Amino acid sequence: MKWDDNIIESLAWGKAITRKEEKERVAGRIAAMVKQGDVLGVGSGSTCYMALLAIAARIRDEGLHIKAVTTSLEITMACVRLGIPLANFEEYRPSWTFDGADEIDPDLSLIKGRGGAMFREKLLINSSPKAYIIADSSKMVARLGTKFPVPVEVFPQALTYVGHALRELSPAEINLRMAEKKDGPVITENGNLILDVWFDAIPSGTEKAIKSITGVIESGLFIGYPVEIVDVG
Ligand code: 5RP
Repeated sequence: MKWDDNIIESLAWGKAITRKEEKERVAGRIAAMVKQGDVLGVGSGSTCYMALLAIAARIRDEGLHIKAVTTSLEITMACVRLGIPLANFEEYRPSWTFDGADEIDPDLSLIKGRGGAMFREKLLINSSPKAYIIADSSKMVARLGTKFPVPVEVFPQALTYVGHALRELSPAEINLRMAEKKDGPVITENGNLILDVWFDAIPSGTEKAIKSITGVIESGLFIGYPVEIVDVG
């Protein structure tokens, strides 16, 4: 039985979507790649949300049968609202994954995690045979760390220790990510905190160095992953 009064039905994307036309174009390109029976790994952020709108239209118009494995609560709720069936990661391996990014450098290394979902995003990208990064033109940078800090998800009790250990990597600045509509810090869907770490330079070993700190759950650095970029064309 379905709920007859579902608060999720009335939800839209929470914020104004920047570069909406460009995002609509890349979303359309991703939606066109979906095949009957696919289990889609779905990343987070507004570009992924736009892609879900385009995929939902194909489900309606063409009777496409697909499933989505999601990386965040907002994307799960978007799937519920759009009638896109959900699948558990525990049971289903994605046929392929699409995700957004905050920065993409010329080697296709990425910073992700503005939305705080980098742990599950990395899990899906690593577990998918193929991963596409959908990006508007603002995402290309000459050097990672130009516009965005590197987000680091931290087990709460390890915050001080992790902050101390991160200083060994000579960051320019470390900030605890604060919430906007609640008091105190952002709490991730895994119950953890996020440190936003600004670097003047990000050598290729930085991702592993951050991950090796006890108390770090995951970082938003994706250095040298075999992703394919889907841009505005
Ligand atoms: C969330 C992410 C997003 O993919 C990234 O922030 C891009 O978001 P948008 O599509 O809204 O620009 O990594 O954790």
